[in-house]
Amino acid sequence: MKRNFTFVASLALVISFVMQSCCCGGDVVVGESYKVENGMLIFDEPARVAGQESMLGFAAEPIPVVRVGFVGIGMRGSAAVERFTHLEGVEVKGLCDLEQSNVDKCQKYLSDAGLAAAESYVGPEEYKKLCERDDVDLIYIATPCTQHVSVALYAMEHGKHVAVEVPAAITLAECWQLVDTSERTRRHCMMLENCIYDFFELTTMNMAHQGVFGEIVHAEGAYIHNLEPYWDGSHNNWRLKFNQSHRGDLYPSHGFGPICMALNMHRGNKMNYLVSMDTKSVNGLALAKEKMGLSEFKNGDHTITMIKTELGQSIELHYDVYSPRPYDRRYQLTGTKGFANKYPISGYTFTEGQLKDGVLKEGMQINPHDFASQDVMAAAMDAYKHPIHQEIEEKAKQVGGHGGMDFVMDYRLIYCLQNGLPLDQDVYDAAEWSCVISLSDASLEHKMPVAVPDFTRGDWKKLQGVTFHSK
Ligand SMILES: NC(=O)c1ccc[n+]([C@@H]2O[C@H](COP(=O)([O-])OP(=O)(O)OC[C@H]3O[C@@H](n4cnc5c(N)ncnc54)[C@H](O)[C@@H]3O)[C@@H](O)[C@H]2O)c1
Repeated sequence: MKRNFTFVASLALVISFVMQSCCCGGDVVVGESYKVENGMLIFDEPARVAGQESMLGFAAEPIPVVRVGFVGIGMRGSAAVERFTHLEGVEVKGLCDLEQSNVDKCQKYLSDAGLAAAESYVGPEEYKKLCERDDVDLIYIATPCTQHVSVALYAMEHGKHVAVEVPAAITLAECWQLVDTSERTRRHCMMLENCIYDFFELTTMNMAHQGVFGEIVHAEGAYIHNLEPYWDGSHNNWRLKFNQSHRGDLYPSHGFGPICMALNMHRGNKMNYLVSMDTKSVNGLALAKEKMGLSEFKNGDHTITMIKTELGQSIELHYDVYSPRPYDRRYQLTGTKGFANKYPISGYTFTEGQLKDGVLKEGMQINPHDFASQDVMAAAMDAYKHPIHQEIEEKAKQVGGHGGMDFVMDYRLIYCLQNGLPLDQDVYDAAEWSCVISLSDASLEHKMPVAVPDFTRGDWKKLQGVTFHSK
């Protein structure tokens, strides 16, 4: 199912990496070259080639009616098609999947909403025809993650903006391919990280940016989700196969993306290095035996990754999709003047003088040693509600998708394209949040800290702070 195009592009990249640098110590991590310096593994960072320009702050020409093609319309992609029927100023032009039944289901979403039928594409290479059309502006990708990059590259090479599900890329080489192709073709490449639009996360980001927690020194994120009921639902068992054959934090962005937004990553801050540790595989191995007849499972039952930032903060990420635990993305911020935590218990700790005037009503108390009371929390969340939520929360809750955050994400993507604004998430976010997969793997395999590449190539201070643009 590998595309020739991607294979050739990957091969060229691998060869150029290998030719540009020397490798020392340990085995070469497939696809990338590295050196070891002062006890840290450092992957080569390819120089920006002539003709490429940074995508920081990039805005394309406004597209009043955004014409969309969907590639991969299984569980996640089909739900996106349904949500798009609730958006103004979009036309669904093409629906592409391996299964005719998924295409039929999505055509029905369109006809039920009174919308025109889209062109159907069924087959592993059919996405190319969709990308080659000249009446499509945006390709929305929700295939298995192992195929995101081949579709995304092909789409950008054919002049299309790209929105791609999480994780956008698996290998470090793929992360650079997304960055380089987006920079060269001047097409957006946004990862569809929905959790940054969650009502708690976005409100808390707003508080963080307004200094409610003082200076943030530590953050925690997680993807702890017992996937037992879901393994059999993925097409051709792709998700379990992927986990069986990969070590590390394989799904970092739901916990990590919102933290990076709160900490202004590559907008005045950057990640410097990470180190990972995992457990042996017990429940994963049992799954491999039961469902695949295999006696090996690479992914540990629990993986922890710690990251140090340029501004001196520590970040701790957890990944566990095998254990019987409550769902947990953590989303925890520790600041010098306050604290936020979403899972397993949502709450804030505020200190005197940090909340803006008028938030605390008569009788409301601040206690720096405990979670704020429910009424203080509600008053603070209301006062710091993000303008995006003020605008779209009600409709998002009606349309739904993880409680509404999925619709907020789609709405923002289309709003920014329609108005010619920079997108909320850029290609550097996609690369930074996805590279944790391959870097955690490298750290585990080599038992070493690993430097986090600067995908902006030195421009991480050019933008100061996260901005969600409005006209
Ligand atoms: N953001 C979120 O909350 C969230 C939630 C679930 C899944 N995801 C991500 O969404 C993506 C899809 O996950 P899913 O659960 O929908 O998987 P799925 O197995 O239900 O769907 C994947 C679909 O892709 C199709 N497909 C595979 N190869 C294709 C090709 N070459 N061309 C066209 N279609 C192709 C398959 O036929 C299948 O219908 C994954 O990357 C996953 O990580 C994100």
